[in-house]
Amino acid sequence: MSSAPTSGSHVSVPLTRVVLVAATAALGGFLFGFDTAVINGAVNAIGEQFQTGDLLLGFAVASALIGCAIGAWYAGRIADRYGRIRVMLIAAVMFVASAVGCALAIGVWDFSFWRIVGGLGVGAASVIAPAYIAEVSPPEYRGRLGSLQQLAIVSGIFVALLSDAAIVAAAGTASAPWLFGLEAWRWMFLVEVVPAVIYGVLALTIPESPRYLIARGEMTKAKEVLTRYVGGDVEKVSTDILKTVEGKSERARFSILRRGKFGLLPIVWIGIGLSVLQQFTGINVIFYYSTTLWQAVGFTEQDSLTITVITSVTNIVTTIVAILLIDKVGRKPLLLVGAIGQFVCLGVLTLMFATATVVDGQPVLEGSSGTIALIAANLYVVFFGATWGPVVWVLLGEMFSNKIRAVALSVAAAAQWAANFVISTTFPALASVGLGLAYGVYTFFAFVAIFFVIKYVKETKGRTLESMSEDAPAPVAPKR
Ligand code: GLC
Repeated sequence: MSSAPTSGSHVSVPLTRVVLVAATAALGGFLFGFDTAVINGAVNAIGEQFQTGDLLLGFAVASALIGCAIGAWYAGRIADRYGRIRVMLIAAVMFVASAVGCALAIGVWDFSFWRIVGGLGVGAASVIAPAYIAEVSPPEYRGRLGSLQQLAIVSGIFVALLSDAAIVAAAGTASAPWLFGLEAWRWMFLVEVVPAVIYGVLALTIPESPRYLIARGEMTKAKEVLTRYVGGDVEKVSTDILKTVEGKSERARFSILRRGKFGLLPIVWIGIGLSVLQQFTGINVIFYYSTTLWQAVGFTEQDSLTITVITSVTNIVTTIVAILLIDKVGRKPLLLVGAIGQFVCLGVLTLMFATATVVDGQPVLEGSSGTIALIAANLYVVFFGATWGPVVWVLLGEMFSNKIRAVALSVAAAAQWAANFVISTTFPALASVGLGLAYGVYTFFAFVAIFFVIKYVKETKGRTLESMSEDAPAPVAPKR
């Protein structure tokens, strides 16, 4: 460990060191993606096994999202009181408990309970990864490192899809008994124990956030972490952090949030707006319902599954594009291009679905309209994956001041989970009126997103976390 630096000395840190630390926190994103997607391959078998009707089964699926919102809501306060690492450890324990609980469930109610427990973990991980990564990253790489979380989320979605498929391939069907007499669908959940344990163990090896340490008065430890991972003028950075966190208990931090005109600070409303708009353009409808969606419009089951895999790979590749661009072009231009691109693609999808031929009450996309819809849907995922997917999480990690970061991020992430719940539970009803209507709604919100970005989002590229102001969305240069 380097000796404590004197004022003005500049410490440079190899990027790989902080990448490893950020990647560990991002593993929470992997579990977030895995846990939200793993249910897809299991849902029909669970319905059969527990003799459950559609409504109850729908509840069993959606219950996890309720857990996510609650987990996100409390994670910030726990992180401020007990530390960022502890939140990761709590999340890891929840993931393990949920995986085992779901795998051994005897009925739909205890199954739903364990899905909620997993949801608490997902919600907590969704808050702590962006907050922690932003807090340990040098400003010039913060966007890239923060985007690792989204890369992990989409990889988690992809691996869950593969793992479900591999288990079905080995067992025959999702309901067939497999190893140790446990049905295949139970194993789909049980395998999550592996990444969850790795996450928990690795979380024990990474340092506590320097911003949290300084808020707790542990200056020497904080300087060590800054020297080892963040670099720059450590003496100045730690003094700057101290000025922004001094004298606030986590209760006081939470009450700062409520100082604004409409019950919350304007900056918190902007975080909520970004979160809700990210969800209201329907990304998770593509992920949660894609196989059903493509089958409904005339593709075979096998084709629909292939399309789902392609979509998921597209999302991974485009996240890499975001990682390459985010610290160069900045957050705001990416969001703007993304909102415009999503608006156009969703508009095309709306048009295709609204004008589809109806056969036996079902819309069927014939000839070129099927191909156009497929291209539009995947281009939509390209725009989302390279912009709103990662950028919203990065911004939520860095746009709030040190004092309110964890709690404000909690509120915004809880709103995101609630929005996710609304979109995923209303899709079947909207779609039964018409897919054109469902996609029309998402197109409308993409349109709103364009203006929201122009009016409310301020660039954070390259700025220090200490220069983020509490009450103003207006950019302020640190005046020291
Ligand atoms: C973002 C969203 C999440 C979605 C994922 C898909 O992380 O927050 O809801 O499932 O992107 O790429």
